[in-house]
Amino acid sequence: MPRASESGPAPVVLSVGGSVILGDDPAADVGFLAQLADLLRDVGQSVPLAVTTGGGRVARDYIRTGRALGLTEVELDEVGIEVTRIHARLLAARIGPPTPARPPTSTVEAAHEVHRASPVILGGTEPGHTTDGVAALLAVRLRAARVVNATSVDGLYDRDPQRHADAKRYDRIGWDEFRAIVQASAGTEAGQEFVFDRLGADLLHRAKIPLAIVHGRDLPNLRAALEGRSFRGTRVE
Ligand code: UTP
Repeated sequence: MPRASESGPAPVVLSVGGSVILGDDPAADVGFLAQLADLLRDVGQSVPLAVTTGGGRVARDYIRTGRALGLTEVELDEVGIEVTRIHARLLAARIGPPTPARPPTSTVEAAHEVHRASPVILGGTEPGHTTDGVAALLAVRLRAARVVNATSVDGLYDRDPQRHADAKRYDRIGWDEFRAIVQASAGTEAGQEFVFDRLGADLLHRAKIPLAIVHGRDLPNLRAALEGRSFRGTRVE
């Protein structure tokens, strides 16, 4: 298996939302995760690839229970992080060597690993952001060519496409407008769902790293976005 080297192609970072990992049908999730693992193994052989996994509804369920028990927001973030790491372990174990079976717990560690063990899969790192934020931090460290956000919709819309039939998808959006949307939608509590992490958007904008938002369950399209080819979704640049 060829090894990624620091003089080869620029790394790529993927943030897989928890809602992509855990759908409504556990049997369908198994088939999807097996195919996703194959895709990541394959892409990870030609480019240094780092992947963060979200916690989805399982993280939110535990965070809700923890909040009812009176845990602090930091403790609730730590509960969420544990769930994201379970998802990272599931994917990493399915992919197999050279992917580290134990998800790195920091972006420093993940950045180190990705040049010798691509694809590297990790969950959250510390309280205060989401796995989108981890993906952005890692992308900046790695001087990544791009970040791909695999989510449960096929891009960024001007309003909720589930509730508004006439909602329009942005094919392209500039960073200032995107950051305004993120600021308007993002809260700071543990377990919140929003389009992209506020910290992540600020970091990518500052580093001038483009972000692609795609539907995570459309694997041919996800592959196109990871490989820098034309894709269906939203480009933030
Ligand atoms: P997610 O990355 O899944 O966040 O982390 P999310 O946006 O709420 O959900 P999805 O999965 O993309 O829909 C789950 C929770 O874990 C904590 C946060 O509370 C987050 O909401 N977390 C995660 C951290 O505190 N730090 C991290 O680095 C990652």
